[in-house]
Amino acid sequence: MNIGVVGGTGYVGITLACLADFGHDVVLVGRTKKKVDLINKGVSPIYELGLEKILKMNVESGKVHATTDYKDIGDADVIFICVGTPSREDGSINLSDIKEASSQVARCLSKEKYHVIVVKSTVVPGTTIHEIKPVLEKHSDKKCGQDFSLCMNPEFLREGVAVEDFLNPDKIVIGCYDDKSYSVVERVYEGFDKKIPRIKTNLTTAEMIKYVQNSFLAVKISFINQMANLSERYDEPVDVYEVAHAIGLDPRIGPHFLRAGIGFGGSCFPKDVRALIAQGKELGYNLTILEEIMRVNEKQPYRVIELIKEVLGDLENKTIAVLGLAFKSDTDDMRESPTIPIIKTLVKDGAKIKAYDPQAEENTKKIFGDSIEYCSSPDECINGADVCLFLTEWKEFKNLNLSKIKCPIVDGKRVLDPNEVKKHGLVYRGIGWKN
Ligand code: UDX
Repeated sequence: MNIGVVGGTGYVGITLACLADFGHDVVLVGRTKKKVDLINKGVSPIYELGLEKILKMNVESGKVHATTDYKDIGDADVIFICVGTPSREDGSINLSDIKEASSQVARCLSKEKYHVIVVKSTVVPGTTIHEIKPVLEKHSDKKCGQDFSLCMNPEFLREGVAVEDFLNPDKIVIGCYDDKSYSVVERVYEGFDKKIPRIKTNLTTAEMIKYVQNSFLAVKISFINQMANLSERYDEPVDVYEVAHAIGLDPRIGPHFLRAGIGFGGSCFPKDVRALIAQGKELGYNLTILEEIMRVNEKQPYRVIELIKEVLGDLENKTIAVLGLAFKSDTDDMRESPTIPIIKTLVKDGAKIKAYDPQAEENTKKIFGDSIEYCSSPDECINGADVCLFLTEWKEFKNLNLSKIKCPIVDGKRVLDPNEVKKHGLVYRGIGWKN
């Protein structure tokens, strides 16, 4: 099939290049010429495991092509819309980019052909039917369900493992306007393992599935973070990771997303939870659980500051080695990273920051400029530090030679095994753990 992808150089869009592995021809439409040129050279504009290999192979064989021109997708059987849906000041979703992209798509549709437009961007329930459909009809002079049709196919990719998640999803959700559009989009995924459940539903339910899933995962994280903070208060040591492991053995709970830490960040969870809260308000329903989840999450980074003060006292002129800047490992993404409020507070309290992250230095510089020092290795970072602060769970930190560390450790992401650290005679404080 011929597949067009609008927002094709962005995070979600670019992973659709993987569809070329299933025999489809993929045209990625992007706004930035620089990114388009990179892709056409087989180079990925984002850091994502395995993506560059797929791009390179399929660009070379001519199955993937990037462009800035919408006209190049005028002939596509299926057009995915993957543009970003940022938040407004009040947390509600900002649909201006996706509406603009939809109007561009509408203008480039061929007069004769039946296209299926698929919204993949995360949009609050009701958006595809009430906001996108009218824009497409208005600017194409075509009628939905007749001359073209509409589906909503949310993505559930985690950064860092996006290619793996794309190729092996736990489900494929296809919200459809009508049966015909469903069968077209089902064909896009024909080559995927038949055992993967296909969920056929309406447009609004598909949108709702995405928000409820992300919100529920956010609930799990804030819940375990509160339990972690409580665990630190008992006389006899309680390790929240041991608690999480035990409760996770109950299949009704499951083992995932119970890692206590510095709170959730990234481009999805905070934004999506806020957007659903805002939509709830608009619809006259207060999502009080989610409001509290966000409050807990906004406070959680500061727990690390308390732990540092417990081991160091006053922070004035203290040197703090920050290991990890990205909101999680295997990505260079700093969006809504909980490391940002932590570093800001430490700097405000007079500490000197030496930071190291294997991928996120460039993006961190856009936020902190020269106000912190950037190191090119963990060794350089910890050298001469008064405290070593672990904030991202990079594998290389887990394997660090602890005998090189000469100062107390504060572990925001429980990167290290506390018992191992103790063997080295080091002071260790970690979220949800007290000795
Ligand atoms: C998330 C969803 O998982 C994905 O399905 C959706 O499509 C996009 O948003 P992502 O933001 O890439 O993916 O990362 P994820 O691995 O879900 O982690 C999100 C945040 O939660 C990170 O800050 C992470 O450190 C934090 N987290 C995750 C925890 O603090 N504890 C956990 O147990 C799991």
